[in-house]
Amino acid sequence: MKKMILDVDTGVDDALAIAYAVGQSDVELLGITTTFGVAPVEYSYRNTKSVLGSLNKDVPVYKGSKEPLKRERVHDGKIHGNDGIGETLGYVEESETITKDAVDFIIEQTKKYKSDLIIVTTGPLTNLARAIDKEPQIMKYVGRIVTMGGAVASPGNVNKFAEANISVDPDAADFVFKSRLPITLVGLDVTRKTLLNKDNVKEWERIGTSSAKFFAAFTQFYLDAYKKIHPTLKGCALHDPLAVGIALYPELVRTIPMHIEVDLSEEVLGRTVENTNLEDTEPNTLVCLQVDSKRFTEDFFNKVNNILSV
Ligand code: BDR
Ligand code: CA
Repeated sequence: MKKMILDVDTGVDDALAIAYAVGQSDVELLGITTTFGVAPVEYSYRNTKSVLGSLNKDVPVYKGSKEPLKRERVHDGKIHGNDGIGETLGYVEESETITKDAVDFIIEQTKKYKSDLIIVTTGPLTNLARAIDKEPQIMKYVGRIVTMGGAVASPGNVNKFAEANISVDPDAADFVFKSRLPITLVGLDVTRKTLLNKDNVKEWERIGTSSAKFFAAFTQFYLDAYKKIHPTLKGCALHDPLAVGIALYPELVRTIPMHIEVDLSEEVLGRTVENTNLEDTEPNTLVCLQVDSKRFTEDFFNKVNNILSV
């Protein structure tokens, strides 16, 4: 059984990644940690719990970072909605629900499972950076970190250079890349090649369970947003589910080891680049550059359609 923590900013495609992860028979999802990102952390926490509730899955959820390490939080709601989940769940009251802090949960589970643990991140890297900063000696034992973020050989999605998860907290990402932990970077280079289209949403409407209808509703919002932003793309990208897929089936992608850095200069803030000008150019990241989209999307829809049918 593979042990996994999902660190999310739920988020439409984070919700799809959660369904895909809980639909796997050989994964023990130890917990889901949440962060700000596409919406404030109160929203990603609530959205995560609602998604799990709709799937009838009892997985512990922890609230984490409210804001980036050094900068102001920005979010515009255009792609995922103001509530982060396609305007299906609406406003959340600020609450002081006491749960174990996400960062402490990550540290505790890494101490317990060491190299058996895979951490998949599908939001900004703030929780992970804080865990590494707090307990570097424990975090160095983690088995793998699979991160949805960055764009190494293709354009960004917040601007020409930067991808959203890196861009909202570039300092956290910079810190994580410098930590020398075993990172696999699942960037736009591959995630833009794994798409969901309107027929997939129609299929969930046809399945007709309450979870399938909920998934169809929030995914339709995301599809519509993609249509405006990327009129030539034939669907919306399965960014976050692909990170789960690669964590479980590394053979889905071809990777190249590189020394990745996060650009922190204002003009190209958040760009993920290979730096070959340093004295120490030892690779710190496996960068995914080619993906077997057919195999991934078949597995994704098989498992998600199954779980939405129950
Ligand atoms: C990433 O940003 C978020 O909008 C998505 O959930 C995904 O994690 C894509 O750039
Ligand atoms: Ca996300």
